[in-house]
Amino acid sequence: MMRIAHTTNELRNLIRGFRFTHPPDQTVGFVPTMGFLHEGHLSLIRLAREENQYVVVSIFVNPTQFGPGEDFAQYPRDESRDVALCSQAGVNVVFLPSISDMYPDHPMVTVMVQEITGVLCGEFRPGHFDGVATVVTKLFNMVQPDFAYFGQKDAQQALVIDRMTRELGWPLQIRVCPTVREPDGLAMSSRNVRLTPAGRQVAPLIYRGLTEARRLVEAGETRVYRLVAAAREIISADPGMTIQYLECRDREFLASLTVLDRPAVLAIAAYVDSVRLIDNVFLEPVTRSLDDRMEG
Ligand code: PAJ
Repeated sequence: MMRIAHTTNELRNLIRGFRFTHPPDQTVGFVPTMGFLHEGHLSLIRLAREENQYVVVSIFVNPTQFGPGEDFAQYPRDESRDVALCSQAGVNVVFLPSISDMYPDHPMVTVMVQEITGVLCGEFRPGHFDGVATVVTKLFNMVQPDFAYFGQKDAQQALVIDRMTRELGWPLQIRVCPTVREPDGLAMSSRNVRLTPAGRQVAPLIYRGLTEARRLVEAGETRVYRLVAAAREIISADPGMTIQYLECRDREFLASLTVLDRPAVLAIAAYVDSVRLIDNVFLEPVTRSLDDRMEG
């Protein structure tokens, strides 16, 4: 039977109970979310279910990762539906903390990851990744999972969390799962429900543009400006779409690239109907044979 923990204490007691009654090789898998669950979240939960004996899902719309003027108040919420979905998916514990459970009245501690948080989303959402790193740190301390599951949809977030986890030496592994999409390619997101019918028609251009860049890579194009231009042409074809950034960066340090000579990510943030959507695809460098290189 699924349990619901509303406070940190309740959560700790449940996790302690599991650890105490099970052999040490049995693992706890953790999926942190902000709720309004969709197939993307459920894919993480299913993998966690397959790989662990105990699965914890947290649902917490974290105020510190939203900037002033961002959509914290409008962020969609549906707790009872989320709880039912978790129960169907075989989750052991849903953690639903209150804001005061997660943050004291006068917080003095922020966890900050440098460098890779200054670009892409970090450039346009100052403080966002500090909020994410801080809340995920707290959640990791409370749940003490063996595995934690994140989506490639938020590739920069997954990189930041993985970096933080390894650099701080926490005994847990970050697992990153592929982006789950609607049949027309639009990446699933809790924010998609805020699109108007017209905006919903425009939004799939994002993935169409990204896949065009990937097609060019497969056809041998390695010049990054060409890849970005090809994607931009498709994505910006509709006036309902406003690109915030569209950039190709390496997957380790998020350094910008001019030639696709390392594993890369082509990442975008764009506004449709004043809803901010993000997406990305991985681009792999084509390893050319020695013969090809001799020919120039
Ligand atoms: P949220 O946006 O609810 O996403 C929770 C997890 O689901 C993240 O790891 C995200 O990458 C993943 N996810 C979202 N859409 C996905 C999709 N279409 N396919 C695959 N995975 C997808 O990300 C957050 O919440 C928060 O920042 C959080 C990590 C919970 C910290 O507050």
